[in-house]
This record gives sequence, structure tokens and C-alpha cells, in this order.
Amino acid sequence: MPTSAAYEKEYVSRTRRSRAHFEKARKLLPAGVESNVRFFEPYPFYVKRAKGPYIYDLDGNRIIDFALGYGPMILGHDNPEVVKAVKAQVGKGTMYGASSEMAAEYVRTIQKAMPSIEMFRFANSGTEATMHPMRVARAYTGREKIAKAEGSYHGGHDYALQGVDIPEDMLRDVRHQPSVPFGKGVPKCISDLMVMYPFNDWGATEDVLTRNADDLAAVIIEPVQAGGGCFAPRDNYLKRLRKLTKDLGIVLIFDEVLTGFRVARGGAQERYDVKPDITCVAKVAGGGYQLGGFGGSRKIMEEIVPKAGGNVYHGGTYNAHPVSVAAGLKTLQILGRPGVYRKIDRIGDSLFRGLKDVAEDRGVDVWVESVGSLGQMYFTDKEVSKWRDAMDIDREKWNHWFMHSLGRGVFFGVPHPDEHFFTSIVHSEKDIQHSLDVSDEAFKMIAKE
Ligand SMILES: Cc1ncc(COP(=O)(O)O)c(C=O)c1O
Repeated sequence: MPTSAAYEKEYVSRTRRSRAHFEKARKLLPAGVESNVRFFEPYPFYVKRAKGPYIYDLDGNRIIDFALGYGPMILGHDNPEVVKAVKAQVGKGTMYGASSEMAAEYVRTIQKAMPSIEMFRFANSGTEATMHPMRVARAYTGREKIAKAEGSYHGGHDYALQGVDIPEDMLRDVRHQPSVPFGKGVPKCISDLMVMYPFNDWGATEDVLTRNADDLAAVIIEPVQAGGGCFAPRDNYLKRLRKLTKDLGIVLIFDEVLTGFRVARGGAQERYDVKPDITCVAKVAGGGYQLGGFGGSRKIMEEIVPKAGGNVYHGGTYNAHPVSVAAGLKTLQILGRPGVYRKIDRIGDSLFRGLKDVAEDRGVDVWVESVGSLGQMYFTDKEVSKWRDAMDIDREKWNHWFMHSLGRGVFFGVPHPDEHFFTSIVHSEKDIQHSLDVSDEAFKMIAKE
């Protein structure tokens, strides 16, 4: 029976320099990485450079990249037009400490893609992009609680780090799931301000929101839930949520940090034709540079405007950093060209459908869930449409497939089975075919076990 070592064999033999660097890096950075999610067993590889759909590691391996910077690089690495726009900006000063015309041009561009955004404010990450609007919604409604879907991920602030992963012994009925801090150091009292609802379970969601309506300032949602992998909304879930939140006077916040400019130019709100009150963006919005932000209805966003009687705090030294705005603007312009999303989705479909077909041909049970260029493969014989459905997937098989593929030069995204991977517009048919062939080798070994 093949062991984990059998699946890791090629990775280990091809990444000796990364291994040596890991031994040094772990003394300098906790777990030897700059962000926890970058770590995986037996050790992560280290990157030298990236271009197009490839990253090149310390050992000189060329790796087909489906992590894509964990989402932003939908045009591939170092798109020449984006590089040119960045270079043009670099000579014009780095930080102004005052506002620029370019930022307003960026907002106009975002508005064209997402007409629900009447006004917009910049931030520097997805974490900030979800943190600020929660406060705005509290000020606007005079209520304090925020509802978030169990399993969803909205970044690293204390309100977002609630119910991200709920330990089995703390799981309750979906209609009465208390919030649980994710990891140590998150104050328990914040849990009391968060209300959990189950994405894609309309009956339970309606029940939870209706019962808590008097206290709820906002419902925040990843319109395609990527916390836990990838779950596409079913049965008009988003439209029903829109109607209910409107009826109850609750602000509806779409966290489109991952889906914005990825599942359509106008994000999930375009793809599913639902208009939120506030939208959070980051990742693709900055074209690979640090840019996030949130925007929505004028009435709500004006809570930020300084006025007598007080307003909502919003700030950030690096907000609308000129280099990030230049990169983001160019990226959004490129994505606005005709036919771009048809191509992006076609490439995504060929990978995700291909994985399903190849696994089925080998007799390996998988559920592949994807929306355009975003998806995940679950090793299970059941449909996976909700976060709890993914609790008993076979994580060992996923790790085996991931490690075998990486050893053969294919990086299937965020290195954990509860995450996701992406395609870009520059992945070629050859890249996809190679990735399927390599997966087929892994499935063959898995099927033998
Ligand atoms: C849906 C969603 N929201 C927020 C964030 C946080 O973004 P950042 O890592 O830029 O802080 C992420 C990051 O993966 C995300 O996927």
C-alpha cells in the first residue's frame, strides 16, 4: 500500500534547496513562512521568481501555479501591461499623504463593473476590507451584531476569526450554532457579537436571521463560499438572502475579496444578479499589489463623512497606494476587454471538469465544485454544497494527490484540502493537460490502495 512517503518522494528529491532553506527560515520566521497558510508538511518550497502561469523555486523547478498568489494573479504573474503601469508610477513618488485623481478614476472603473458601489473607500487588504464595513453597518443601523456563515473566512481581524473552523465537540444544530473563536488569542466576548448561519441552507438561515433581526447590523457573506473550499450558491440562496435582509433592515455585505473580478468582472453579484448594500474587494482588485476596499450605497457609505455628532472612523496610511492603484486600474481595464471572462471560465472548466473525468475514469470518488476559475476537489462519494458536507471528506487522499502533483511540477493551490485553487487567463491547454496527466498518476496510485 503506498504511503504518504510514496506520494512525497518526488517532491523531496526535487526540492533539496528548499528543504535546506526551510531549516534556516524556521529559525527566523514561525514555521519558516510569512503566513501560516503557506506552510505544509513535510516543508514548503521557496520561490525565486514567477512569470505567467509558472513559479520557479530555489531548486530551479518550473511549477504550474494554481495558487496564483491565493487569488490575485488572474492575469498570471507579471502581466507585461501591469508591469509597465507600475513602472510608470514608481518614478512619480511613492506616498503622497494626500489624495490623487487616479484613486477617483479607479473608483469609476470599479463602479462600471459593480454598479452597486456608489461610493468606495480604499484599504490595504481583504482583512481591512471586511473590518471597516462591519463598523459602518453598526453605525448605520444602531445595532451591534454581525451574522456570518459558519466556515466562511473574511480575514484576520477578531470579528472575522469567528466560526471559521468549529471543533467537532462544539458543533450544535445549524439553527443554534454559537460562534467560536478561531485559534488562540481571539477574545471570547467577540463571539457574543457574532451570529452563525449555514450557507446554502435557506430554511435555517431564514430562521437564524429572523430570530436575531433586532440585534443584527449586517449579514456578511462570501457569495460563493470559499471558506472550507468552494461552495456555489444553490436554489436562489443569494436572492432570498437579499430579500430577507431588505425586509428586516439588515445591511447585506458581500465579501467579494475572492470572487470580485474573478467569477465575473462584476463578481458574484453580476454572476448571480444580486445587489448587496456593501461590497468588499481585494485580491484581483489590486492586480497583485496590496489593495483592498469596500463600497456600496451612498446612504450607508456617508456614515464615514466627518460631521457634527460624529462619524465612523476609517483610515490607513497606505490607503490607495499609488503603485497598487496603478496596478489595480490596469488589471481591471484588461479584464474589461471583450471575451476575457469567456476565456477565463473556459480554462477553469477544462481543469475542473477534467479532474472529475480523470478521477472517475480511475474509479476514485470525488466531488468537484467550481465556479468559473475558482474551485476545489473533495475526495468523497457525496455532493458537497455546504461547509458541513465537507467535514468528512478524505483529507489524506487530497494530501496524496496534492503532494504527488507538486512533486511533478503542479501546485494545486492553497496547500490544504479546505481551501481552493484557481486558474488564470494564461494557463495553456498544455498546462491543463499536464496537470490532468499528473493527477491521473496520483489517482491511479490512490485507486490501488
Ligand atoms: C473571502 C475573503 N475575505 C477576506 C480575506 C482576507 O484577505 P487578506 O488576506 O488580503 O487580508 C480573504 C483571504 O483569503 C478571503 O478569501
